Amino acid sequence: MNTSRRKFIRGSAAGVVGAPFLFSGTADALLPVDDIDWGMGFPEGSTLLNRNENPIGPSAKAVRAAKLGVERSFRYADSILIKSLLSDHHKIPEDRIIVGTGSGEILNLAPLVYLPEQNHNMVATLESYRPIPGRAERLGRQVKWVQLSAEDNFAYDVDRLLAAVDADTRLLFMVTPNNPTGTVLSFDDARRLADGLPGQVILILDGAYRDFQEDGRDEIDLIKEGYENIVITRTFSKIYAMAGLRAGYGIAHPDIISRLSRFGGSPTSTNMAGFGAMAASLGDDEFVAESREFVRSSRKYYERELGALGIKTIAGPPNFILAGTGENTQSISDELRARKIFVRPAVEWGLPAYTRISYGLPRENATFIAALKEIIRA
Ligand SMILES: Cc1ncc(COP(=O)(O)O)c(C=O)c1O
Repeated sequence: MNTSRRKFIRGSAAGVVGAPFLFSGTADALLPVDDIDWGMGFPEGSTLLNRNENPIGPSAKAVRAAKLGVERSFRYADSILIKSLLSDHHKIPEDRIIVGTGSGEILNLAPLVYLPEQNHNMVATLESYRPIPGRAERLGRQVKWVQLSAEDNFAYDVDRLLAAVDADTRLLFMVTPNNPTGTVLSFDDARRLADGLPGQVILILDGAYRDFQEDGRDEIDLIKEGYENIVITRTFSKIYAMAGLRAGYGIAHPDIISRLSRFGGSPTSTNMAGFGAMAASLGDDEFVAESREFVRSSRKYYERELGALGIKTIAGPPNFILAGTGENTQSISDELRARKIFVRPAVEWGLPAYTRISYGLPRENATFIAALKEIIRA
């Protein structure tokens, strides 16, 4: 393959759809396997601390099962087995479970299903994961934003959240632990929210990072107790380090599950590799402990190193930290980017004086800290 074509293919990895030669149908157009660019649009040698991935990677068992799944990928996968494993794992009937292409698929269904009328709105916190309220806005629905307070360490205030709910509200979207602030909604506060909501409102508890949280009663118990107005989502992307396998699920009362299932979370939302990896990972306590230990030690490292630079940090159970990078946040990010180090300025979550850093492997974290020191001292 000539160099310019290879460059073009590499350049297109960030998601340019429809590059004509990819579909030319000639043998010459086939990309040699060794030439596949796994950089996902980032330059070679990048340090990616921007996407909340878990860089320890899936367990050896999960990888083996995923490979076996790929060999069987001429067949459609089906989530029947996964549902039964999840049912055993969480001790909850299968009709309360929906499996998706990542937890994102299940979350994405909620605005579609629960905000059908023009006047319907959704309540969400401003300093939080945006795609779900973003989807509501793209549907033309109002999002009633509740701002968290920096002075209060971005804690969730149940009364303020409930006060934002009105007669047209249909969804209250909460992320716990939160991305990017790490804020945890306690079990008791989750119950207070569910109890305080009017009958027409569904409480979504997005638990993408919940498995990193080592204490606190599991909110799934509320659904077991019979709450009919809660949807809980969980994922294999973070704790099990399987973001690229797209495996997640939701738990709720059967009526909610059947409403969501009309639009997604179908049996074939699961892929064969993800199916194998999920089956081989669920309940792997040893791996969960390893993942948690990775996060604990990374958090300690960042708190120490950033603290030594006089940078305030905010971190909860998940695999990232918020750094108070102040008024130079954007220029710091730009200078890091010039060194192929990627972090996320938190302006997109209404926090312009902070940067979110996802924990990398120790050498990646050290690369970042060394570069940050250079940039700050320059
Ligand atoms: C808070 C939150 N919810 C949901 C997701 C989506 O996760 P999944 O990979 O399961 O679709 C993410 C991904 O980063 C996230 O940060």
